[in-house]
Amino acid sequence: MDNIFEELLAEVKDAIRDFHNSKELYDARMRFLGRTGRLTALYKRIREIPPEERPAFGQKINALKEELEARFAELEARMHEKELAEKLSGESVDVTMPGRRVTVGTLHPVTRVKNMLIDVFAGMGFEIFEGPEIENDYYNFTALNTPADHPARDMQDTFYVSENFLLRTQTSAGQIRLMEKKRPPIKMLCPGRVFRSDDDATHSPMFHQMEGLVVDRHITLCDLQGMLDEFARNVFGKESKTRLRPSYFPFTEPSVEVDVSCHVCGGTGCSLCKGTGWIEVLGAGMVNRRVLENCGIDPDEYTGFAFGMGVERIAMLKYGINNIKLLTENDVRFLEQFKD
Ligand code: PHE
Repeated sequence: MDNIFEELLAEVKDAIRDFHNSKELYDARMRFLGRTGRLTALYKRIREIPPEERPAFGQKINALKEELEARFAELEARMHEKELAEKLSGESVDVTMPGRRVTVGTLHPVTRVKNMLIDVFAGMGFEIFEGPEIENDYYNFTALNTPADHPARDMQDTFYVSENFLLRTQTSAGQIRLMEKKRPPIKMLCPGRVFRSDDDATHSPMFHQMEGLVVDRHITLCDLQGMLDEFARNVFGKESKTRLRPSYFPFTEPSVEVDVSCHVCGGTGCSLCKGTGWIEVLGAGMVNRRVLENCGIDPDEYTGFAFGMGVERIAMLKYGINNIKLLTENDVRFLEQFKD
């Protein structure tokens, strides 16, 4: 019976040589010290030996049990330390590692110019009004003094959706929509997308316009030019001036084409302004009395001016962009150049 202890001890020594993790260690502990373990089995064998030897046998088992418990406790402490060290080293942060680069997006140049124009005109007291992109013939043409057989309809190649509906060719449609609802004084800015069947380096079938409309008592062409001077100074620089040239639009009378002094050469002549010192930027005029009448506003009491500009055109002039397609290709190398 004596060598049972020796054997068990040898077995324990053998079993506890190396454990990879605390689970293995726990299983081993259970194998010897657990309720169905080897040592518990020894206690049961106490019945097999003569009564007088039992106390000594019991002491031996107890001593062995204490020894095993002490060994396992030590192993567990070491395992715990080892596992903790592993866990901590796995979680450590290498503060010398380069950070992940965060690339910040930029606003599209058309959005930038649009926002800028809104800021400038909102600063002068204009309210923003947005009309629908699909319009009917009445708002886009007829109410703007351009009846069906009017030759001015040829000025804009129109995309028709049906006989009566079309993609608006101009934000001027917003003038009618607003004046039907609101009485003077009116000071509105109507930004939005417009569509024309037109496609070359400076024209695209979809582009953005910004319409301005001011209607009140005693509004004159001087008010229009004064306000456009302020616009030009804000967009093209402090020294900018404007010049009005006679033009024609059915919904304004008189109508003008507005030039801004060339912001590249300052007016002396360069390749951008083709040697003239001036660049055409928008169309404008005094609101035609027939348009006011169409909206139920008395033209003998009220007068007004309107203007319409292409946002892409302003962006191209301001940033020196020579092809309108660059604005719709969405090449990041192009777009990321427009940073604050
Ligand atoms: N709607 C005109 C165009 O698209 C521009 C314009 C607006 C002219 C307002 C005069 C007054 O060409």
